[in-house]
Amino acid sequence: MSIFHTTQRIGEVVSILPQASEILKEFRIDFCCGGHRPLSEAIKEQDLDEKLLLSRLENAYEEAKRLNDQVDYREMTSSQLIDYIVGTHHVFVKRVLPEISELTATILRVHGPSHRDLFRVHKLFHTLKTELEQHLIKEEEILFPMIKLYEDEPSDDLYKNMKETAVETEEEHEAAGDILKELREITADYSVPKDGCGTYRRTFETLEELEADLFQHIHLENNILFQRLGVGLNEKQKTV
Ligand SMILES: [Fe+2]
Ligand SMILES: [Fe+2]
Repeated sequence: MSIFHTTQRIGEVVSILPQASEILKEFRIDFCCGGHRPLSEAIKEQDLDEKLLLSRLENAYEEAKRLNDQVDYREMTSSQLIDYIVGTHHVFVKRVLPEISELTATILRVHGPSHRDLFRVHKLFHTLKTELEQHLIKEEEILFPMIKLYEDEPSDDLYKNMKETAVETEEEHEAAGDILKELREITADYSVPKDGCGTYRRTFETLEELEADLFQHIHLENNILFQRLGVGLNEKQKTV
């Protein structure tokens, strides 16, 4: 799946990939004051090579991801890890959910009559979507601010609160994992039938990308962040 599209605002491109600023500079695209404009506008106005620009951005994104993969997350403070999770995984989920929603609806309309499983795929995905949307809000607005506060001012009360919320959060991770498992079963590991079109393929590819991203995302939260704080599902409550 491509990360960058010409319909994106220039500022959005830089917020996804800070290193994009260097590439934009090279192409003489103004990403500060002109950040609200879609990329396509600058391309058209300056008669730029769209293909080249997009491929440069995609390559830089892959490179940044590769470098990120080498990061030792355990060396980050909890606040740093939270910022990393929100800046990469939450951003990804928020971008991809509406896209898959449209894709699953499209293939349901076109292929649903001959592939009835797509009704279940559509429903399961939308359950996952609603749950994840609430889940991200819970983390960003309740749990993560609590953890950040706890880092500076630990207290028994705050720990108790944090623990309760983290346990709830971890249960939600399990529920998401169950839906992903069922989706994989129904689609026979996301295999596209012979009469499936390009959109069918793209839908399954994007669902698979969401699955891979969620696995890494949940791993960072459950196994590094919550475990370090002693607030995981399987950990006994402690006193500070
Ligand atoms: Fe998260
Ligand atoms: Fe989470």
